[in-house]
Amino acid sequence: MLEIRESAEQDLTGLLVVEETAFGDTEGPVIVELVKGLLQDPTAIPLLSLVALSDQRIVGHILFSKAEVTGFAEEQSSILAPLAVEPDFQNRGIGSSLVTEGLKLLAEAGVKMVFVLGHPEYYPRFGFKPAGQYGLDAPYPIPEAVKEAWMVQELSPGYIGRVKGPVKCAETLDHPEHWRE
Ligand SMILES: CC(C)(COP(=O)(O)OP(=O)(O)OC[C@H]1O[C@@H](n2cnc3c(N)ncnc32)[C@H](O)[C@@H]1OP(=O)(O)O)[C@@H](O)C(=O)NCCC(=O)NCCS
Repeated sequence: MLEIRESAEQDLTGLLVVEETAFGDTEGPVIVELVKGLLQDPTAIPLLSLVALSDQRIVGHILFSKAEVTGFAEEQSSILAPLAVEPDFQNRGIGSSLVTEGLKLLAEAGVKMVFVLGHPEYYPRFGFKPAGQYGLDAPYPIPEAVKEAWMVQELSPGYIGRVKGPVKCAETLDHPEHWRE
């Protein structure tokens, strides 16, 4: 039985283990520091941190933090990063459930646009599409060969195409090592 809920303080160790094992030896430690940092970063608020539990055990984690399209501070935006599912629990729809639940909660909270730098084969199934073509530039330049990995979706109509400019992220995410695909 899968449960998805907002993470609590006592979930920190469990969710970091999931991040570390999902991302592996090289990327894992960087992602662990990113998650720890974002969870304490005032510039990341509003922040949404969800865990997926299977039989009370944390097997998935997703984090959304504040984003802002320069010049459009009144239109709330968010960045999805990172998303991780424990390797033994992958390919069972847990990642999808975390993304879907997160987008639903963000929409309810009035967030207009959500950005992600991620697998272009994975995120379009949730409604994400390449963002660069709409004049929404990532905080750091995304190389041409992987530009499709920088994606956006609007949670209510009328923003994409009208809202344009460089996207600002939380300070913890604002380092080049987090913007390589
Ligand atoms: C990506 C990840 C979160 C997906 O979680 P999951 O619970 O296995 O996802 P779901 O079961 O909802 O969906 C499985 C689908 O994801 C696809 N997928 C998994 N990893 C992928 C990758 N690296 N690139 C593209 N697609 C990927 C699978 O091929 C499968 O596709 P299908 O439905 O067409 O068969 C998980 O594989 C993971 O933690 N990976 C390591 C960390 C990572 O890369 N995070 C994402 C950063 S953008």
